[in-house]
Amino acid sequence: MLSKKLHKGLNDQINAELFSAYLYLSMSSWFKAQNLEGFASWLQIQAQEEVEHAMKFYGYLHDKGADVELKQIEAPQKSWKSPLAAFEDAYKHEVYVSSLINDLADLAVADKDHATNVFLHWFVEEQVEEEASALAVVEKLKLVATHPGGVYMLDREMASRGAEGE
Ligand SMILES: [Fe+2]
Ligand SMILES: [Fe+2]
Repeated sequence: MLSKKLHKGLNDQINAELFSAYLYLSMSSWFKAQNLEGFASWLQIQAQEEVEHAMKFYGYLHDKGADVELKQIEAPQKSWKSPLAAFEDAYKHEVYVSSLINDLADLAVADKDHATNVFLHWFVEEQVEEEASALAVVEKLKLVATHPGGVYMLDREMASRGAEGE
């Protein structure tokens, strides 16, 4: 049996992951409107991954016989002042999500809920990657900031996600 607090936290995480999907889809749409199709495609794949994350929480709650309550998803920001600003937001958002996962892991440990703790390990590791991949894009965008056409070069590189299996 999940404790009340952990049940609520895991259920809220479905919403947080779906909001992440919404945020990245919104960013994807903004990049698409700037004709930066590589960034748009990268973010669309990212949005799909966030839906998969939500479904892992959904599935876990059902496996535990716990009720799932889907709440309203907040509307994400619609536009950014630059590609760099967008990816800085993406990185900040991933750091925030890591803090949510850490809080859930703390709760599982406090509850001595080993099953949930093990379930959350995947997310603890995943968040390291999520932060790193967003930060890598931030750093590359900073590197090309002074090069005309640098963003277009990066856009081509971003388009390769999915083509190589990641
Ligand atoms: Fe996620
Ligand atoms: Fe994420």
